[in-house]
Order: sequence, then C-alpha cells, then structure tokens
Amino acid sequence: SAAEKGGYDYFMLKEIAEQPKAVADTLLGRIDAAGSLTLDEVRISASELREVDKVVIVACGTAFHAGMIAKYAIEHWTRIPCEVELASEFRYRDPILDARSLVIAISQSGETMDTLMALRHAREQGSKVLAICNTNGSTIPRESDAVLYTHAGPEVAVASTKAFLTQLVACYLVALYLGQVRGTKWGDEIGAVIRDLSQISGAVERVLETMEPVRELARTLAHKNTVLFLGRHVGYPVALEGALKLKELAYMHAEGFAAGELKHGPIALIEDDLPVVVVVPSPRGRSVLHDKIVSNIQEIRARGARTIVIAEEGDEAVVPYADHLIRIPVTPTLLQPLVATVPLQVFACELATARGNEVDQPRNLAKSVTVE
Ligand code: G6P
Repeated sequence: SAAEKGGYDYFMLKEIAEQPKAVADTLLGRIDAAGSLTLDEVRISASELREVDKVVIVACGTAFHAGMIAKYAIEHWTRIPCEVELASEFRYRDPILDARSLVIAISQSGETMDTLMALRHAREQGSKVLAICNTNGSTIPRESDAVLYTHAGPEVAVASTKAFLTQLVACYLVALYLGQVRGTKWGDEIGAVIRDLSQISGAVERVLETMEPVRELARTLAHKNTVLFLGRHVGYPVALEGALKLKELAYMHAEGFAAGELKHGPIALIEDDLPVVVVVPSPRGRSVLHDKIVSNIQEIRARGARTIVIAEEGDEAVVPYADHLIRIPVTPTLLQPLVATVPLQVFACELATARGNEVDQPRNLAKSVTVE
C-alpha cells in the first residue's frame, strides 16, 4: 500500500531515501567515545582474530560487490591476504582453508542457498565464519560462528540498495576492527577513517539532495540499448554494481569494467553517443589512480562516447571531458563507494520507470534465491 511505501511510489525509492539512516544505524553503538571500535557482539576473540592469516569473503549478487570492496579495505588496513569469491563458484571448487582462515559470508536475507552452502563448506574445513547479515535469526547467521548485523531495516524491493550501503559499513567495521586488534602500521589512519565513517551518513544525505539532474539524464537515455560503467580500485566494484542495477531494473545491456582493461577489449564497444558512466577516484589520496582515469575518459570521449562522470566536489580535471557531471562529496578513497553508488541506484530506478518497468518486482528475479 501507499502507506507502507511511506509516500513514495516504490519501495525502492523509499529504501534509497532511507540510506543515511541505515548507514547511521549500522554504526550506532559500534564506535566508543574514544573513537575505537567495540564489536563485542562478534563472538570471535581478539586472540583468534590475531591468528587469522587469510580472509575469504563469499556472497552473491550485490552482496558480492560489497565483498569486492571489502577486499581493498581489509588488505590495506590489515595486510591480511583477502580473497573474495562468488559463493556459487567457491562451493564447487576445492578452496584451501583451515582453522586460521576467517570466512565472511555477506547476505541481506541470510537465506541465499549458495552462500549458505559455501559457509557450511568452510566450517567443514575448520574455518571460522563471520556472517554480515540484515535479517535477525535467519539461517546464515544461525549457522555461523559470529554475526555482525547490518541495521538497514526490512528491504522489500528486489534490487538491493540500503542493504548494500550497510554491508559496506559492516565490511569497513570488520576491516578496521581487524586492523585495531592486530595493531597495524596504519594505526593513525584507522583512527582518522573511523572519524570519517562516523560522518558519512551526512555525505550520503547530501548526495540524495542533488539527484534531480541524474533523474533527468536517465529519462533522456530511456531509448538506449547499452550503458557501460568504468571504475578503478574500489570504483571498479561500484561500476559492476551500477551495471547490475541497470540490468535488474531497466533490462538494459549494461556492463562494468575495470578502466585499466579498456584497451584489452571494452574500448572496441565504444561508438558514437554510447553512454559510459565513469566513477572517478579522489584526486587527493592516490592521485595516480585519478590521473589514469582522466586519460581513460579522454580516450573514450575521443571515440565518441557520451561520458557521464561521477567525481568528487572540487575535482576540476574531469570537467573538460564530462558530457554530464555528477558531483559527490569528498570522502577517503576507500569509503567513496558509500557515496558513489547512490547516483547509480537513482539512475537505474529512474530508467526503469521511464521504460515502464516494474521497479520493485523486476521480471524473472527473486528477492532471495533459496534454491540452487
Ligand atoms: C538476489 C537479489 C539481490 C541480492 C542477491 C543476494 O539476487 O535480487 O538483490 O543481492 O540475491 O542476496 P542476499 O540476500 O544473499 O544478500
């Protein structure tokens, strides 16, 4: 009913709008007054976490994209090798795990069959499993050694939005906590990032306030057949997530690529007026990443692409090459997905509407895939 949708036309719009609160709720009570993380609810002891020599993340769909981003954060802040794999692939190979491996299963519903089977497989090898889950008492957390709940609240729309942002928050918390208990050389950086993370909900709010031009742009592209997405570093999984949203909702051919792979194939797809969304990393931080992507934008534009550039406020280097410019707030590099994903959700939702598609219940898809 309209009341359930809180005055929005679709649950998806309501859930996109709820993201600042979902992010804040997921942080609530997990950062103490001294700016340290308190994840006592994760019932894996600090000494066990100090023994971990490998992290393996398993998930499906949008949760898998959260896992891909987590890998960048975990390896950077903890220096523990981290793999991330689709649960449906992981469970059918012969992954090398033991008691010192920490397996993280990410699932909104807690009922996805492939993710459940992957975690069972991991526990049989003696690994500890930590679930990141949005649904209290669901099967995946029940069968795990520990759980860190995301506090997104119920997500009704099939295409995941607020659950994704909270999965990212939970992944950052786990990465920072691992860094904290293990005392890495990034100690100062970890303190600073925890402070940035506690402000991030306001940044998500600011993005939501500036989405009208994104909706307008989506409407003008409703007749297109293909949209490509490019990113580097944590912007690469964001590109994959933008493409997934467009497939799910707009039924358009959409693909995400690592921008560094352009010359290895994708650039052959560029033709006149093809929309290409580019997620640009911060020019501060690792500026080499930024410079590389600016030349990627130049390359595709020279071949006729219509460039839709998502870039930080104050990033002037992209301006000459952006046919459409979407601004996002300044954030630390690793946290950027929390703000960069939001315009892509709005874009896909508006394209679905413009194409007359059912936003909350896309054809052929289920909210939770509980069969094999
Ligand atoms: C389905 C949903 C996706 C979700 C995926 C994993 O495909 O449509 O939105 O990302 O399942 O679901 P989970 O509940 O395990 O996060």
